[in-house]
Amino acid sequence: MASVTCTAPVNIAVVKYWGKRDTQLILPTNDSLSVTLSQDILHSKTSISASKEYTQDRLWLNGKEEDITNNKRMHNCFRETRALRKKMEEQDSSLTPLSTYCLHVCSENNFPTAAGLASSASGLAALVFTLAKLFDLPISMSDLSRIARQGSGSSCRSLFGGFVAWEMGDQEDGSDSRAVQIAPDTHWPELEALICVVSDAKKGTSSTSGMQQTIETSRLMKERLQLVPELMDAMTKAILDKDFQSFAELTMRDSNQFHCVCLDTFPPIFYLNDTSRGIIKLIHEYNASYGTYKAAYTFDAGPNAVIYAPKENMKEIVQMIAHYFPPSEEKKSTYFTDPYHLFENGKLSGDRPIINDSFNSSVIPVYPAGSVGRLLHTKVHDGPRVLSNDQSLLNAEGIPKNLIQ
Ligand code: DP6
Repeated sequence: MASVTCTAPVNIAVVKYWGKRDTQLILPTNDSLSVTLSQDILHSKTSISASKEYTQDRLWLNGKEEDITNNKRMHNCFRETRALRKKMEEQDSSLTPLSTYCLHVCSENNFPTAAGLASSASGLAALVFTLAKLFDLPISMSDLSRIARQGSGSSCRSLFGGFVAWEMGDQEDGSDSRAVQIAPDTHWPELEALICVVSDAKKGTSSTSGMQQTIETSRLMKERLQLVPELMDAMTKAILDKDFQSFAELTMRDSNQFHCVCLDTFPPIFYLNDTSRGIIKLIHEYNASYGTYKAAYTFDAGPNAVIYAPKENMKEIVQMIAHYFPPSEEKKSTYFTDPYHLFENGKLSGDRPIINDSFNSSVIPVYPAGSVGRLLHTKVHDGPRVLSNDQSLLNAEGIPKNLIQ
């Protein structure tokens, strides 16, 4: 039995991918760009074993077996990586014929699924990366990203750390639609992120169906597609120059524009809720009070905010969010995840933060306790990692160690 275990990170786009020109191959209608977040806080971990004893491909997610019969996206990833392995085996008969063996896949997220954070990008990236390692494929990350893309579009960007673009390409077969690294995580270490978990409920409209509804019905979307190339250039430059002022404005504008085309979808799609809008107002007031951008928000297909900011502002931002969006009494102890010890003893006071004289503290009311359920402080970090075999999620029989019946 051959077995490999890897982890892959979450990425949060600052130029959003929204819309497919080919839903089978998962080819997007625009380029996108994201930032890879630390795996210390959020990651998907996947173990895959191959054995000639296995009778079928099987998958366990967070300990529970899933029926993968109709999981087309997963089969795409199996098919593509097996085909590459098969070629290698044809050229070298001494290789174990892993391409003919069935696979057991076990995957877990280190964040509670209930945290309401997207796990498909890290999950599919972990799957494809682990398959490549198991099959020992001599493949570049960008080439592998073309396979990950067919699992879930945004997962192709989770194969790299740092700052990552997904080039839409123009070939019909998708051969040039792949992820490339713009800059590694070490390029801009001052940039950090704060994830504000507003809701842990599963979203009403999935990204997959929402984006196609937008493509079919939104006229504004056509306008957006014209604007993205210029935006990609400006965002790339802002990142390479470590220019937070440009990065912040472009990030917030892109998030707003994405939610604007969601609203222009017919019938409209609402991902933001009242708490999300409160966060938007607060960040704008915070920036205006300093007369400069100190923080930038972005929202994916849900109400949770990700706030990008330079390290030096993070403490003030956490205090500000915690004041306006206090934790509920029962969730107090898990409210703030402080892996980098921003606060001594991890203690966060709910006092009104003194930001500066110009800050209008009544810009928004203090929201009902629990409107923001969790705050996670995180950083820009590296891409997928290979773990040692003793960290495998599968036992010697290829069954999850933490099996939930
Ligand atoms: C709003 O990658 O989840 O997060 O390709 O259908 O699996 P599929 O969609 P998915 O869409 C992500 C959309 C987004 C923006 C982004 O990550 O770029």
